[in-house]
Amino acid sequence: MARALLEGVGAYLPRRIVSNDALAERIDTSDAWIRSRTGIGARHIAEADESCAMMATAAARQALANARARVDEVDAVIVATATPDQTFPATAVRVQAALGMARGFSFDISAACSGFVYALSVADGMIRAGQARGVLVIGAEVFSRLMDWQDRSTCVLFGDGAGAVFLRAGAADDETRGILSTHLHADGSLGDLLYIDGAVGQPDRPGTLVMNGREIFRHAVVKLASAVDEALAANGLDASAIDWLVPHQANLRIIDAMGKRLALPPERVVVTVERHANTSAASIPLALAEAVADGRIKRHDLVVMEALGGGLTWGSALVRM
Ligand code: ACO
Repeated sequence: MARALLEGVGAYLPRRIVSNDALAERIDTSDAWIRSRTGIGARHIAEADESCAMMATAAARQALANARARVDEVDAVIVATATPDQTFPATAVRVQAALGMARGFSFDISAACSGFVYALSVADGMIRAGQARGVLVIGAEVFSRLMDWQDRSTCVLFGDGAGAVFLRAGAADDETRGILSTHLHADGSLGDLLYIDGAVGQPDRPGTLVMNGREIFRHAVVKLASAVDEALAANGLDASAIDWLVPHQANLRIIDAMGKRLALPPERVVVTVERHANTSAASIPLALAEAVADGRIKRHDLVVMEALGGGLTWGSALVRM
């Protein structure tokens, strides 16, 4: 069985940056409230030309360039998104066309904020099974289009962006790099804690985000910790083996709790939530791209990723870079 090597990472952030102070001019909130509860200071918000597919394509191009991979090495494009431009075709086929891919297959995955970990897991399985040798895994979100901008309890939390990785099949016996394991979970009985109030089947609904923040927080701390423990146990590793925690960027308090639980010093935890806010499925690859680009995360480092989102869905991945 081949191993999936993470060869290149890419990112795209919308041009427009909206600070907490700018939000406070429109709704009853403050920079102090948002920072103290979430760690968020600003978010990027997509403009009309910055579609989900456009951002996904930009991130994918950068991931391929950083991997020194050609488009004809890509067998599959998987986009994790809850905010596609169209119900169908999938955002992934739009990316495929924009990249000029003449073959292969493409599809989207819907697992909300856990989407990137889910997509990474599917891609890893396909590479191990020999179904694909080169896979683009992309998280791309335009959550600003799902917000009720009058609801201060949710609209301050999210931002837009895209991140991508290119995975390439490597030798099965090369233990020095690659995705070690992924671990996925869902509990549909908790679906009403975080959802979009509307869909194609409910034409009279505006389709905005509804969240029970306190309950999400409670589940996140417990479930993320157990997903990371599961990943370590599956590989016979202790938390001290982890070089980097690259968590889903929802909330600094959840991220800090995870870092403390793993006894990682703060400088070993990649945090972008202050500048990106919560970009859902894009947040992990965006954080990864930043830490790889600035030289913090290096080849052969052991990275643990974890995410929880609407569904509830949650999971973890352990990757030797
Ligand atoms: N500005 C000012 N005041 C606000 C704002 C705001 N933006 N939003 C809510 N408030 C007020 C509320 O109206 C409430 O006022 P009241 O007591 O007079 O009624 C007060 O602040 C407290 O509201 P709570 O919702 O109880 O605030 P809490 O301390 O729970 O913080 C938060 C809310 C930040 C959402 C927290 O619950 C949280 O972090 N939850 C995790 C949810 C999360 O991260 N979701 C992201 C999606 S899921 C994921 O990605 C993991």
